[in-house]
Amino acid sequence: MLNVRAALKTGIAQLRTANVPSFTLAAELLLLHVIGRSRTWLYAHPEEILSDSAAQRFLDLIARRAAGEPTQHLTGKQEFWGLEFEVTPDVLIPRPETEHLIEVVLDRLAVRELRANRPPKSDGAGLQIADIGTGSGCIAITLAKELPQANFVATDISPAALAVAKRNATRHAVADRIEFSEANLLSPVGAQHAAPQRGKIENNAPAILHESRITDHDPRLFDLIVSNPPYIGRREADSLAREVRDHEPQAALFGGEEGYELYANLITQSAQHLKPSGILVLELGHNSLEAVRPLLDTSAWTNIGVTNDLAAIPRILAAEKT
Ligand SMILES: C[S@@+](CC[C@H](N)C(=O)[O-])C[C@H]1O[C@@H](n2cnc3c(N)ncnc32)[C@H](O)[C@@H]1O
Repeated sequence: MLNVRAALKTGIAQLRTANVPSFTLAAELLLLHVIGRSRTWLYAHPEEILSDSAAQRFLDLIARRAAGEPTQHLTGKQEFWGLEFEVTPDVLIPRPETEHLIEVVLDRLAVRELRANRPPKSDGAGLQIADIGTGSGCIAITLAKELPQANFVATDISPAALAVAKRNATRHAVADRIEFSEANLLSPVGAQHAAPQRGKIENNAPAILHESRITDHDPRLFDLIVSNPPYIGRREADSLAREVRDHEPQAALFGGEEGYELYANLITQSAQHLKPSGILVLELGHNSLEAVRPLLDTSAWTNIGVTNDLAAIPRILAAEKT
């Protein structure tokens, strides 16, 4: 028989031995997940005896975490911008760095409102926003909560990721304002062959769809395009933590041999799909700036800005379409 304190102690010891980063927090989160209680309860009831099945489930999760599975895959969730997102092995686990992208978007929109002599806090009325490579949907859904009148297109090359994003949108009550689309960046998969059709994923429909409203011939125009594309270089794969390399989707991690390969197309397509004065906001890899910043040195772009993350890494690149 294990009480709460003993279970936690055992879990922490096993994760520490397995060199799991933040082993105490991981053990706590796994125990909370199993017993369905708050952190306050956990520390207020150290003598509470766990049922045999709860103890066994906890120890199984500890073993899986010790073997490298990310905590978020075991609990099925991750917080981002104060919202809880479902995560599965089909999507990137939302990262805190990406919250800087949300900050930059909201700042840029506020400046735009001020320039138009309107109050800075926008509700997003009339805005058309695209999120490229939506993964869990964390960017589009967070922006949909912040901008309750805006409408969104969220693309991903992975139908499995789109299914998760769709569930997250429903969970946060914004599914009616986000169109999910299987696309290579902004080019719909199969567009050359598909007849024009509306490509929304309906609740019980298969996740694969052909969204052909966005086309290169008749580009759908946006006020804002955001993206956190895959930006890790395959040549860096060996230096990644095993939790990341072995458990997160390859399509979400690797942008090519160097990592920054997708940005050129992303920026070209964004120039075609942004309205005049439209805003582009991109997350960068730790070493992407040098390769990506020059791609904006054309007459298509102005008002270019770089924002560092908390580790002083240039993380967000923003620009305005001329
Ligand atoms: C780094 S993850 C970002 C996920 C999410 N936006 C976030 O910030 O957590 C990149 C996402 O882009 C998708 N992706 C990769 N290549 C793509 C492409 N060519 N077109 C569209 N999406 C792509 C991946 O499937 C993955 O979901």
